[in-house]
Amino acid sequence: MTMPWDRPAHPADSRPQPLSLVDGLSHQHELSWARTPDSGAVDPDVAAAVDEAAARFDRFAPWVAEHFPESGDGVIESDIQHVPGTKDYVARLMERDVPGDLWVKRDDSLPISGSIKSRGGVHEVFRLAEEKRYEKLSVASTGNLALSIGTVGPLLGFDTEVHMSVDAKQWKKELLRSRGADVIEHSGLFTETVAQARETAGDAFFIDDENSFGLFAGYAVAGRRLKEQFAALGRNFTPDNPLYVYLPCGVGGGPGGVTFGLKMAFGDAVSCHFIEPTANPCMLLGAFTGNPAVACADYGLAGRTVADGLAVQSPSPLALDYAAHLVSGFHTLDDVTFLAAVNWLERSAGIIVEPSATAGLTIPWRLPDVPETATHLVWLTGGSLIPDQDKDRLRGQAATASLHWLR
Ligand SMILES: Cc1ncc(COP(=O)(O)O)c(C=O)c1O
Repeated sequence: MTMPWDRPAHPADSRPQPLSLVDGLSHQHELSWARTPDSGAVDPDVAAAVDEAAARFDRFAPWVAEHFPESGDGVIESDIQHVPGTKDYVARLMERDVPGDLWVKRDDSLPISGSIKSRGGVHEVFRLAEEKRYEKLSVASTGNLALSIGTVGPLLGFDTEVHMSVDAKQWKKELLRSRGADVIEHSGLFTETVAQARETAGDAFFIDDENSFGLFAGYAVAGRRLKEQFAALGRNFTPDNPLYVYLPCGVGGGPGGVTFGLKMAFGDAVSCHFIEPTANPCMLLGAFTGNPAVACADYGLAGRTVADGLAVQSPSPLALDYAAHLVSGFHTLDDVTFLAAVNWLERSAGIIVEPSATAGLTIPWRLPDVPETATHLVWLTGGSLIPDQDKDRLRGQAATASLHWLR
């Protein structure tokens, strides 16, 4: 593993860097790039949009409670869960302990679409419903963003078209059709699918996963909610008593928005880590090179991965602008580790999630100088809607991957 720790953050990132990191990425090695984020300052205009998003979620809570009774009071939120058994389990695999407590954030069970993408996708549809300017929506997705927009859009009276990239799972397409969305299947990778969908959107409002403030602001509402959840348990964080958060990263909008919200809520007491597949580390490349138009293919990376939610080839320029400088570490993970971690999490905590969602599980073991007072929070980003048959198949793949990992 390459660990060029503690480089200064953006904007100095755009200067020439030693070859080792880029070489490691091109060869699909698991590696980490950690740095000291800059002041952690959040953009005030975007922070105001996050406050508005929080108020909008409150206004829609009665509607959510009516249509999604599983949400209880209509708040689209997930639990946090202490998982000491998982920490012991992974520590045995890693052959060493790591200081601090391990928790998981259960966005795998987030109401409406069972993934982190509910936060942003649903918020953006609420925003458009209040605005009343459009009748049609269009979106391109590797699966989970479409699941949230394609569920809420038709219920709010929008004609909703979802473009699914080649990596999108069949069950997600079927579920969306049953929920009234018009599903268009593409044989291309995500970035190509977005371009085609954007071009053919016509008079529909195109919800752009790579460039949407409405999505970003919706994800960011998670920050204040998390602060309330930990505070209710008597846990408050400070730089001496820090919170480390581990987020799976695709285009970067979801983890970028959450990071923005976490920095609003916790300031320097939180450090955020993004994890991407070795097959397409596009946010890492974007932050490292300073080039928002970077594509994984430029580095010989083909972009296919078992972490289908993260199977994207270029970063979100918006996430790069508003969140990359707030990130303490970018990490890559290979497919075997993604899948094996599905097995470890289920065996140790009884939680089954999709491969993308396990990204953070082993990352605490990569960090230097973690204090005893640390709290690690692994953001589980999707999984509760996986049909039983697909779960069984996933369990088999994950068990095989775990054996392979141990060898
Ligand atoms: C399960 C899961 N985790 C994480 C992400 C990452 O979100 P983003 O692409 O906004 O970085 C996705 C994206 O679809 C996802 O489906």
